[in-house]
Amino acid sequence: MSYEVTHSPYFQTLASENWQAGFDETTMAKAIQALEQGQLIYFPHLAFHLFPAEMPLLTTRFSTRKRKNISYNRMTDDLHGTKKTTLLEAEALQSLLSRFAEHARQLVENLFPHYQPALIWGRTSYRPVQITHRPTSYRKDDKRLHVDAFPASPNQGKRILRVFCNINPKGEDRVWRIGEPFESVAAQFLPRLKKPMLGSSRLLQLLGLTKGLRTLYDHYMLQIHDQMKADLAYQKSARQTELRFPPGSSWIVQTDHVSHAAMSGQYMLEQTFYLPVEAMQDPRLSPLRVLERKLGKELI
Ligand code: SIN
Ligand code: FE
Repeated sequence: MSYEVTHSPYFQTLASENWQAGFDETTMAKAIQALEQGQLIYFPHLAFHLFPAEMPLLTTRFSTRKRKNISYNRMTDDLHGTKKTTLLEAEALQSLLSRFAEHARQLVENLFPHYQPALIWGRTSYRPVQITHRPTSYRKDDKRLHVDAFPASPNQGKRILRVFCNINPKGEDRVWRIGEPFESVAAQFLPRLKKPMLGSSRLLQLLGLTKGLRTLYDHYMLQIHDQMKADLAYQKSARQTELRFPPGSSWIVQTDHVSHAAMSGQYMLEQTFYLPVEAMQDPRLSPLRVLERKLGKELI
């Protein structure tokens, strides 16, 4: 499998149609470089097929008002965020999400063999709710440009690597905006960030508000996430472009690094992986190292 010629600074295109496809050396070398430099890897023809018996799962009926995602843990087979599912429906969702998780992992391992020994499973998610219908606070509003950072689950510097697939059955694109490179985001927002209050990380952990310690890195990334979303002038004026992902397409992106916003779309599958910074081909490109360089101190 090799590259299609594209001239976008935002993404590289791969013509792959199959989740198990192998890649040649040149393609793998280009892909890891592009990904680590903050580009998306876009697969216009990589569809995830539902079995006929799974088609009834394309409904918003299982979603609760509070949660936009149905999430699945590949390690424990646990399903979260659903309501009113029968046992059969829950099993069907588990089976669908587990199959997507395996496909996504296979794709990532085949394209980025360098990451394979260090790749950590994160959640699998199913997003059946139309983005424009999701009621949210500004912090949870993914229609605003942001880099990902999780308040309750500090990732302590690890990269967030996500595989997305649009499975909309009615031909609807998933529409994103992509913003400026992380270096520029950091330069813009670092001067506004506050240091954490002394002892606050331990307290958050003791109170069970975070799973694990919120490191200085997590603290700054969360603030960048919040400040980006809060700044409406920035949302308008920041350099940005619209990307449209049609049904039957997939894409890989490091969402802790790439400023993104999801504007509209319904029915998507997503798999998160975590990757220790040291497992990158060039760790200097990680948000952790960029912030450490700019702030002149260690953050984890
Ligand atoms: C996000 O990661 O901000 C949302 C992506 C999406 O739901 O399309
Ligand atoms: Fe996000």
